[in-house]
Amino acid sequence: MNAPTQSLAGLDLRAEVERLRKERNAVILAHYYQTPDIQDLADFVGDSLDLSRKAADTNADVIAFCGVRFMAEVAKILSPEKTVILPDMDAGCSLEDSCPPDQFAKFRAAHPDHIALTYINCSAAVKAHSDIIVTSSSAEKILSQLPMDQKIIFAPDKNLGAYFNRKTGRDMLLWPGACIVHEAFSETELLKLKAQYPDAPVAAHPECPAYILDHADQVGSTRAILEFALSSPAQTIIVATEPHIIHQMQKAAPHKQFIGAPGADGNCNCNMCPYMALNTMEKLYIALRDMEPRIELDEATRLAAKRPLDRMLAMASGTVGLGDLGLRLTGA
Ligand code: 13P
Ligand code: SF4
Repeated sequence: MNAPTQSLAGLDLRAEVERLRKERNAVILAHYYQTPDIQDLADFVGDSLDLSRKAADTNADVIAFCGVRFMAEVAKILSPEKTVILPDMDAGCSLEDSCPPDQFAKFRAAHPDHIALTYINCSAAVKAHSDIIVTSSSAEKILSQLPMDQKIIFAPDKNLGAYFNRKTGRDMLLWPGACIVHEAFSETELLKLKAQYPDAPVAAHPECPAYILDHADQVGSTRAILEFALSSPAQTIIVATEPHIIHQMQKAAPHKQFIGAPGADGNCNCNMCPYMALNTMEKLYIALRDMEPRIELDEATRLAAKRPLDRMLAMASGTVGLGDLGLRLTGA
């Protein structure tokens, strides 16, 4: 049993959130990078693909999304009849910021023979200019369904795009965006840690630059990293992604040791996502109480953004042939 989270003039916030969740018929979805108190209270904790699927499937009237804004937008795009609330509307993402929709539209127009494969970490407006959305856990399966001679723009994460170029032998044209959190890991500090724990495998998120991924024993989405950490026979695992995911690891395997990969000074907080950190239990309570802040999208943008998301969901579950996706492939 968790201790009550007291604040806002002595309210038991956890109990209040429980009460409002029932009253509103709300589902609380949380990403692995949220703080432990929020993860423990959520109905579902997952990676971006799992959270998109849950948002599309839920019967709840309200989705309280504890993650960043683009994730909550995906919930609204897929479930427009539901009210989607985000505890803090400023919970953005450096990848989203790196790719303004007007510049992306110009870039696309300059490359008419390319299709746009776009990482889910972007605005609804950028999704609306894209052909297929991918997440780190769905990209490889989706790429395997596209002809090798198809020219592809990959945006906005250059590190993720470069990783899939190396892995699949493609030559996708990369938008120059990056995640400030995964770029903060230091190769020097990681090597020092590996020397200290020579038997500890490294699990890394593909948003990390190649100089970190080169030292990884496993590369994958947050869920894949979690599964690896739990299934590995190793007793100590080095985790090169946002360290709040370690909460799930420690809960499921309390006897193991999970060490977050270090940033540049070996001991900084720079590997914590500042955007995810904006969501707090207090703000979740207020959002459920006031049903604000809400995600609202204009219908034209929503429908245009839904097409590439639907393609991702279909291609990721392998239920649809390429010819049925309404995709205009351009070839080499
Ligand atoms: P996942 O899809 O692996 O959960 O990644 C989301 C994210 O923002 C990583 O920084
Ligand atoms: Fe965006 Fe990076 Fe935060 Fe993920 S960790 S939400 S990619 S800033």
